[in-house]
Amino acid sequence: MAESRLILALDVYERERALEIARETADYLWAIKVNWPLIIGSGLDIIPELKEETGLPVIADLKLADIPNTNRLIAGKVFEAGADYIIAHGFVGSDSVEAVMELGKTIIVVEMSHPGAREFIQPVTDRLIELANRLEPFGVIAPATRPERVAYIRSKLKPGIKILTPGVGAQGGKAGEVLKAGADYIIVGRSIYASDNPRESARQIYEEVRAWS
Ligand code: C5P
Repeated sequence: MAESRLILALDVYERERALEIARETADYLWAIKVNWPLIIGSGLDIIPELKEETGLPVIADLKLADIPNTNRLIAGKVFEAGADYIIAHGFVGSDSVEAVMELGKTIIVVEMSHPGAREFIQPVTDRLIELANRLEPFGVIAPATRPERVAYIRSKLKPGIKILTPGVGAQGGKAGEVLKAGADYIIVGRSIYASDNPRESARQIYEEVRAWS
């Protein structure tokens, strides 16, 4: 099977349910993204458990946005638990982001996918792209709900820095449009984990993504 470009946003609380969905969908995924709901509901041990269950990389979507020392304290524990990537906010400044990057592979939020992102984040996206170009993280997060913004971010971003896009499915984004705009990976949550058949939903999105690869 071709390498997947699909990331599952596993935003459920319960450990058993998370492991079951991960197991069912793993064949179609590149990585699993864990966010606060799952970490709060199941504890940090869910990270090594998911890795063991699926063999896939785990992205910890903590959206870290604190002073460098606190970012370092949090990121240290999460990388130690086995996370392969951590998502951090860029708006707190380069020293806070660097504190995470010193410890492991980092993904910087340069824009968000919800309507409120227009209020504060979007106006500073250019500067967040500059920050990413300077620090060269593994990737950036950009909104699948606005393919034109993904195309814009791609045009400004250094080649080699990956673009990961949440917002496909439940938030209205379309996988094909966003891949055409230059996204490297698609992040999908509810359209997979809340469907009646998560494996089949993941397969369908995987096929759609593959058609664009
Ligand atoms: O359920 P859905 O597919 O909308 O899930 C999207 C996931 O991506 C959630 O975990 C959400 O917190 C995350 N996310 C997002 N927009 C961003 C950054 C992260 O939707 N800009």
